[in-house]
Amino acid sequence: MFNIALDGPGGAGKSTVAKAVALELGFIYVDTGALYRAIGLYSLRKTIDTRDIPGVIKLLDEINVDFTHVDGEQRVMLNGEDVSTEIRLPEVSMAASNVSAIPEVRAFLLDLQRKIASEKDCLMDGRDIGTVILPNAQLKIFLTASAEVRAKRRYDELTEKGQKVDYDEILKDLNERDYQDAHRETAPLKQADDAILVDTSDMTFNEVKATIIKLYEERK
Ligand code: DC
Repeated sequence: MFNIALDGPGGAGKSTVAKAVALELGFIYVDTGALYRAIGLYSLRKTIDTRDIPGVIKLLDEINVDFTHVDGEQRVMLNGEDVSTEIRLPEVSMAASNVSAIPEVRAFLLDLQRKIASEKDCLMDGRDIGTVILPNAQLKIFLTASAEVRAKRRYDELTEKGQKVDYDEILKDLNERDYQDAHRETAPLKQADDAILVDTSDMTFNEVKATIIKLYEERK
């Protein structure tokens, strides 16, 4: 199997470009953030504070998360329910970041991610794919962009979907989440030693896509 690990902070454009690259290469695209989001969503629904570590750990016994692919699109199933749309709500982002700092939550999701990567050529996006989940991935990319560019992209993306959002609030949330993701003890957001850094601040979507495909062509 060929595995591409794509890590980086929130809003770096990982998911949009990853989807396009995966489609072109015939790989499946795996958005691992969706798994943490599903657990964050479940905690919110059960009104368990996502910073209440024992409370969240207890919930894991009741949770079954899985991926399915419908027409090449990833769908996230939470106890059999398709929650792919609901996990994108802004309040779920911080909940996901909170639960993702809990080692038991990370351990809970580890096997599923490795299993998918062992069965299919895949492009997996997340925070710790190159460092922890797939340390032997044939290609590792760390995709980043300035906080302002990332906030603007997220703003445009949500506005396009018809959501009413505030740019300053998005920037503040992104910075807060990145700080938390990069400073947790277990599997923090970090560039793997053998990952290639791609700063997309001044790149177009097509340039980013072409860069990743070129890196793949060089290694396959
Ligand atoms: O990629 P995203 O923004 O949907 O991810 C939501 C949160 O999940 C993010 O703030 C950190 C966490 N996450 C993680 O810890 N490890 C991953 N591989 C993917 C996401």
